[in-house]
Amino acid sequence: MEKLQYPDPVVLVIFGAGGDLTKRKLVPALYDLYLDGGLPDKFALIGTDAREMSPKDFIRQLRDGTDEFSRFGKTETKQWQAFLKCINDYVVADLTDRKLYEKISQKLDELNQQWQGNAVRLFYQATPPSVVEGLIEQLKAAGLAQDRQKSRIVLEKPFGWDANSAAELNRKLATAFDESQIFRIDHFLGKETVQNILALRFANGIFEPIWDRRYVDHVQINMPEKLGVEHRGPYYEKTGALRDMIENHLMQVMCLTAMDAPVAFEADTIRDKKVEVLRAVRPIEVAQVHDFTARGQYGPGWIEGEKVPGYRQEPGVDPQSDTETYAAVKLFIDNWRWQDVPFYLRTGKRMAQTVSEVSINFRPAPHQAFPPSAIGSYQMNRLVLYIDPEEGIRLRFYAKRPGQGMKLSPVDMQFSYKQAFHREPAQAYETLLADAMIGDATLFKRRDQVEASWAIVMPIIEGWSEVAEDFPNYAAGTWGPETGEALIARDGRAWQMPTPLNDPDVCEPPEARPGGEKA
Ligand code: BG6
Repeated sequence: MEKLQYPDPVVLVIFGAGGDLTKRKLVPALYDLYLDGGLPDKFALIGTDAREMSPKDFIRQLRDGTDEFSRFGKTETKQWQAFLKCINDYVVADLTDRKLYEKISQKLDELNQQWQGNAVRLFYQATPPSVVEGLIEQLKAAGLAQDRQKSRIVLEKPFGWDANSAAELNRKLATAFDESQIFRIDHFLGKETVQNILALRFANGIFEPIWDRRYVDHVQINMPEKLGVEHRGPYYEKTGALRDMIENHLMQVMCLTAMDAPVAFEADTIRDKKVEVLRAVRPIEVAQVHDFTARGQYGPGWIEGEKVPGYRQEPGVDPQSDTETYAAVKLFIDNWRWQDVPFYLRTGKRMAQTVSEVSINFRPAPHQAFPPSAIGSYQMNRLVLYIDPEEGIRLRFYAKRPGQGMKLSPVDMQFSYKQAFHREPAQAYETLLADAMIGDATLFKRRDQVEASWAIVMPIIEGWSEVAEDFPNYAAGTWGPETGEALIARDGRAWQMPTPLNDPDVCEPPEARPGGEKA
């Protein structure tokens, strides 16, 4: 990894350090950064949580998490011991206790003295959202938010539960921090493949000329997941698929796909272009919500040969719950580039497969000179951006099949990260933590982006609340409810089935293969 330049020492203070996020994401990411030479030379982590745990148990928990989730696999003792030098302390305290902040302040002073420099301080909120406002007040009262250059707050979603609470949270943040000090995480933006959307579009001259309504028929942003809600029932009951995924991850990916070219690769220039997309989204009238959206909730079903319970039977979930675990939305972006091109966004829990992909589907050739028998059933040319779990790009187009006569088949050109670069892409949290340390906010959400995406989903929330749906309406392990299929079928289109990268068989119909049969 290219070594980042850290102008100052960095202290990361994690609030909620005893929880899952620290164990599964933050510390494995820090460890991976460390192994890659991407941590500042002068770096310290202070963890704090109300959970009673000795520093030894804290470290044990972090190692377990790192063994499981590090990109480099199980930790080696020598490297782990060296990494541990970065872990300064685990403080058991209630976040509402003023003394905790005095203690943190004191520790920061000690570290500054030891390093003979004024460290950047990142205050990372890895707590449940209910305590965020209190945390902001305490940081402000302790004077920890004051330094506009060196004090930063990093926040996890959700940023509110609706437009009002998001605006309220933003107002609260603004009482203590300047916007330049606030780093709102949408972890999708840290994924290499999501960042690569910008590289693909704006580092190359060949895509941009056809990236608009003249050539693009429609765009699909598809993020089904096989996982259910696991132990997150109580949280998910309050969010549902629309708030959990569409309002943030899918809309952010849509912004990168649809935005105009920035004049410079700078945080605010890029974020300005993204927010223009959100503001151009055609508002959905509450009365029309059912023409533009579909929602679902999974019932019992089968995943990988195992029977799994329905959402209403999951722990922490109301047995009569009407929370949606599936959401599909059709949006239009009213501007010169995209007028009348539908963007279909879909996500759901307990679906048949886990994938994140964006596909840009191009209009057919204006005149087809080949007889219908040469082509068979026509497939649109399409460019698929694979975000997860596979990472790459595939371009599908027609080619002549070998042999006599003019028979055409769709074929693929593809790029796979692993094959091209011979390494695993960095995990999203590595990138995001490193960027927050150097103060680069490009991949973080600005206040206006958060408020603009809530404005888009509010009529949907309202429309859904007016009419109850007959839940559950899809079985676990399937592709979601019929209403989701109907949403896109009404327009004469269909959701694309994910196709694995590097599947050499996928283009060829069985009769075209030697031997004539699929192996
Ligand atoms: C989180 C959602 O933000 O993103 C989860 O709360 C979802 O419900 C997850 O499963 C998906 O992220 P990833 O990186 O695992 O694809």
